[in-house]
Amino acid sequence: MFDNIVLNKDELEEISYRLGQEITDTLKNEKKIPVIVGVMKGSMNFMMDLIKYIEVPIFTDYIQISSYAGTKSTGRIQLIKDLSYECEGRSVVIVEDIVDTGKSMHYLIEHIMTHNPRNIYVCSLFDKKPARVIDVNVDFVGKELTEDTFLIGYGLDYNELCRELPYVFGATNEDIEELDKILKNDDK
Ligand code: IMP
Ligand code: MG
Repeated sequence: MFDNIVLNKDELEEISYRLGQEITDTLKNEKKIPVIVGVMKGSMNFMMDLIKYIEVPIFTDYIQISSYAGTKSTGRIQLIKDLSYECEGRSVVIVEDIVDTGKSMHYLIEHIMTHNPRNIYVCSLFDKKPARVIDVNVDFVGKELTEDTFLIGYGLDYNELCRELPYVFGATNEDIEELDKILKNDDK
């Protein structure tokens, strides 16, 4: 079970290091302290590892939206928690676990634009390009995916399960059946 590994612990660390350096390079001449915005809850694990490698002063903030049920996007995006700090005139880096259809990121960019930032950059652990419905550019990409597989682990969940895993795997039908069993037996 869970053995179709897409990124292991070492590979995840390497990606955080590489992207942390790229972001440092991009943000090194900012006048105002930039804001790194994690999209809850999927990007939490990645965000914590990534910011260790950003070597310029930053503020961190979080925003929460939801749109998924099981392995399918509902297409309806809800803002659950808005930014806590004003990012007016500051560069913002949105940190996501995965950009899939692009609907969530499109919504987030439009929403954060209303706060009048200086600039918005997008950093995503995964860029699932074949699934794109809305054109969204990812400035900092961890790993580009060529197949439309549902990924689980390291923040990415299946109905809230498996966020705690230190690796990411591509879900097989057997994995999904196993996870459905765990959910079915919850509190019995
Ligand atoms: P989009 O709006 O279709 O681009 O979906 C983006 C959001 O859906 C991501 O932030 C994830 O929370 C979730 N998501 C998309 N694909 C996957 C996946 O393969 N595994 C887990 N969550 C996913
Ligand atoms: Mg997400």
